[in-house]
Amino acid sequence: MSVSINVEHVVKTYKDNPERPVIPDLSVQIKNGEFFTLLGPSGCGKTTLLRMIAGFNSIEGGTIAFDSLVINDIPAHKRNIGMVFQSYAVFPHLTVRQNVEYGLKIRKIEKSELKQRVDEVLKSVKIEEYQDRLPERLSGGQQQRVALARAIVIHPQVLLMDEPLSNLDAKLRIEMRSAIRDVQKQIGITTVYVTHDQEEALAISDRIAVMKDGVIQQIGSPKEIYARPYNTFVSTFIGHSNLFYGTVRKKSVTSVEFADGYKIKMSNLENSVKDGQKVVISVRPEEFSISKSGLKCKISNSTFLGKYTNYVLSFEDGMCIENQPSIEFSQDLGHSDHIYSSGNDIYLEPNSEKINVFTEDMQRSLIKEVKRFA
Ligand SMILES: Nc1ncnc2c1ncn2[C@@H]1O[C@H](COP(=O)(O)OP(=O)(O)OP(=O)(O)O)[C@@H](O)[C@H]1O
Ligand SMILES: [Mg+2]
Repeated sequence: MSVSINVEHVVKTYKDNPERPVIPDLSVQIKNGEFFTLLGPSGCGKTTLLRMIAGFNSIEGGTIAFDSLVINDIPAHKRNIGMVFQSYAVFPHLTVRQNVEYGLKIRKIEKSELKQRVDEVLKSVKIEEYQDRLPERLSGGQQQRVALARAIVIHPQVLLMDEPLSNLDAKLRIEMRSAIRDVQKQIGITTVYVTHDQEEALAISDRIAVMKDGVIQQIGSPKEIYARPYNTFVSTFIGHSNLFYGTVRKKSVTSVEFADGYKIKMSNLENSVKDGQKVVISVRPEEFSISKSGLKCKISNSTFLGKYTNYVLSFEDGMCIENQPSIEFSQDLGHSDHIYSSGNDIYLEPNSEKINVFTEDMQRSLIKEVKRFA
């Protein structure tokens, strides 16, 4: 049955670059039955880690265990894993049903059980009606369902998926991600899912690990990762975040002061922050509201997007951290009907309960009780 996956101090080095490990030292505990997602930019090592769990990559240090069984030296075909890749990898000359049967036939599963299991899986991934078709007559989404059916029909201990939806169009991706989620919950299988699509990760996961350069930056639920990022890499990689220079002011109350002198009272900063400490303040576009006072800025661009209007803003020099893609404010149109135009000056008030504050080097959150690994 399903297992937990315990990765302890794992190292991956490829032969062509022995001096620079792609994964220098990675530990993570994936719970039995959990939908766990590896999320990070291209080249950060997601596929590398997944292939180590699968047994297609050697492990240069540390251990990977299924429950307490160390699997480092168990060959891939003996690990009892189901895999789904970006390319559908279905056999083109076999019908849908034959594709799904394949893994059971090579495992010599007895005929009546085989039929029952295939029927069950075809139904749960909703491809029963296409069972006698060849894959070439299926859409991309349907082919990916066949690949998923093939992976789960063998009753693997672990399901590994590497960007399974990236070849599908946007609408189908959304449909398929709930299909995958439903099937995973229905059979309760421990799943490691790789994507670089942050919205997909938020929608589908129990927990997400955000990776950069082979190092896990944060592990948490989608909500924890979005609302309370551990560092500015996470806050800017998941959703948009605007970063400002700030200073802690600790008088009778604790506040953070922006470079123009505007102060916000903060009730959730760590007690260890010091008066005068330089910090970075991170505000998401939806955490601003228009006000009569607050941070002064100019609208340099506005885009009407139906549910909200997105504004690109410019602030006076010295307010914002350099080299950000853009500073943005999204105005929820459910609560406002006035759309500002380019060139307008406005005042914005950040929501003190929502914003995040980081150390000056942006490596760590200064908000109380933000956990790096939850
Ligand atoms: N077989 C290999 N030999 C040498 N280097 C490799 C090999 N496979 C991957 N790498 C390198 O390891 C790093 C991580 O690659 P990996 O494929 O794990 O990234 P990824 O996070 O899956 O990226 P993407 O989102 O683009 O799929 C990259 O720098 C890549 O060039
Ligand atoms: Mg990859």
